[in-house]
Amino acid sequence: MNSQKPVLKAKAIHKAFYNPALVQILKGVDLTIMCGDTVAIMGRSGEGKSTLLQILGTLETACSGYLEIASQTVNNFNKSKIRNKNLAFIFQSFHLLEDYTALENVLMPASIARSNISPGSPAYNRACQLLEKVGLDSRKHFNTKLLSGGEKQRVAIARALCNDPDILFADEPSGNLDKQTSQYIHELLLDFAHNQGKALILVTHDADLAAMCSRRFRLCEGILVAE
Ligand SMILES: Nc1ncnc2c1ncn2[C@@H]1O[C@H](COP(=O)(O)OP(=O)(O)OP(=O)(O)O)[C@@H](O)[C@H]1O
Ligand SMILES: [Mg+2]
Repeated sequence: MNSQKPVLKAKAIHKAFYNPALVQILKGVDLTIMCGDTVAIMGRSGEGKSTLLQILGTLETACSGYLEIASQTVNNFNKSKIRNKNLAFIFQSFHLLEDYTALENVLMPASIARSNISPGSPAYNRACQLLEKVGLDSRKHFNTKLLSGGEKQRVAIARALCNDPDILFADEPSGNLDKQTSQYIHELLLDFAHNQGKALILVTHDADLAAMCSRRFRLCEGILVAE
């Protein structure tokens, strides 16, 4: 994709929760992301960073506002297709299937997209390459419950990259990891965006990680402000 093209446009995103009490979280968020942008979203706990990431990633619906991804206006009919084809997610708590191997986890998006995942298929070879890239070639046949936290997050990154997404969303991707492992995870994520011209949107409390991104924002009282 052309690196000058917006890959995501969000306009006037509003979000409130009504149960058990009214909480107005987002009060008109505007954001345009280009291919190759690496974007850090910071802010105090409870400001709505995860909610915003979920809305931008089509996992949660805004109360009002406009969202466009890869030149398509997102609506209820196309959002799961867009999510599967264009987006990928990394969460603080990994969200792996613990009784499946690292390789099976990485192949899961391809399997959901109904690609051929048998040994020797393009998807299988790509999954093996990705696991090698994140340094887990020797662990690919281990069930992920046997892996360390940093190893699990590296499997999650390989899984996120399996379908070659345009945008990678990461919500506190190193929140549960030690400093050295965090650094390695950050380098993998930034490397993905820089080398492949993809966008990375991440929520972090880590100022060092935010400083490595090309754009930084702070979510404060429902509004996203560039830093
Ligand atoms: N389904 C829900 N119903 C009601 N309130 C919710 C719901 N989900 C989130 N909230 C509220 O919205 C606010 C924002 O939550 P969110 O998880 O987006 O914050 P955050 O900025 O990611 O915080 P943290 O840095 O602690 O992860 C919180 O006060 C939370 O209680
Ligand atoms: Mg959060």
